[in-house]
Amino acid sequence: MLINRKYIMAITGLFLCIFLIVHLSANFLLLLPNNLAKEAYNTYSHLLRNNPLISAVSILLYLAIIFHSVMALIITLDNKKAKPQKYFMNYAQQNSSWNSRNMGLLGLMILIFIIVHMANFWAKVKLGYGPELPIDSKGQIDIYSVVVTTLKNPFITLFYTILSIPLAMHLHHGVQSAAKTLGLYHKRYLKYVALIATFYSCVMGLGFGLIPLYIYFFSQG
Ligand code: HEM
Repeated sequence: MLINRKYIMAITGLFLCIFLIVHLSANFLLLLPNNLAKEAYNTYSHLLRNNPLISAVSILLYLAIIFHSVMALIITLDNKKAKPQKYFMNYAQQNSSWNSRNMGLLGLMILIFIIVHMANFWAKVKLGYGPELPIDSKGQIDIYSVVVTTLKNPFITLFYTILSIPLAMHLHHGVQSAAKTLGLYHKRYLKYVALIATFYSCVMGLGFGLIPLYIYFFSQG
């Protein structure tokens, strides 16, 4: 049963990693000069919202977030129950990284980020929550202005930038852990997996951390 749970964690985790690559690539559009960024980001967002295939993938995405979180909670609780008594020598500190020992805490921080983030944008665009959304010259929802207005709030920008650190830490261990669960045990491959994990987590952390700062200082809705 534990094996199945680990597989679900690995597969949903890798799916979420792919989503993050696509999501960060789209958010790089926000770095274009203001007018270009507005047109490109609004058109991209409009195309996504009106594509039934993407809507189906979005449902898979929500399910992946839920399954990944619930499995993580179950595994953490099981591990707590199975922990050796305190009086045994515990070499965990020497044998594992801080990230690997705190995946639950890092994951919880990301989950809190996702909930706040969904309230910031997704709930407004998809559920129509809050005041009426601005419309651009093409008659599309002006999601670019919504993002810029939201990130002009220094507390929200700080929250996004700070939370990109636990995101990077979680991804750094998560990618390596998923690779091992899916059968990549050989030392030679694990070396490459570690390199990929370092590169991937740095790009995601820096990208998601710096874009809000760029918007806060330079963009205009
Ligand atoms: C620079 C930082 C980010 C910006 C500006 C941003 C922007 C957005 C926007 C505007 C939407 C709504 C899109 C729409 O419905 O048209 C969205 C959706 C979403 N974002 Fe982000 N995002 C950022 C970082 C993140 C991060 C770090 C995560 C995950 C850890 C994340 C997870 C999601 C998810 C799960 C959705 C819902 C996607 C869907 O409904 O298909 N975002 N984001």
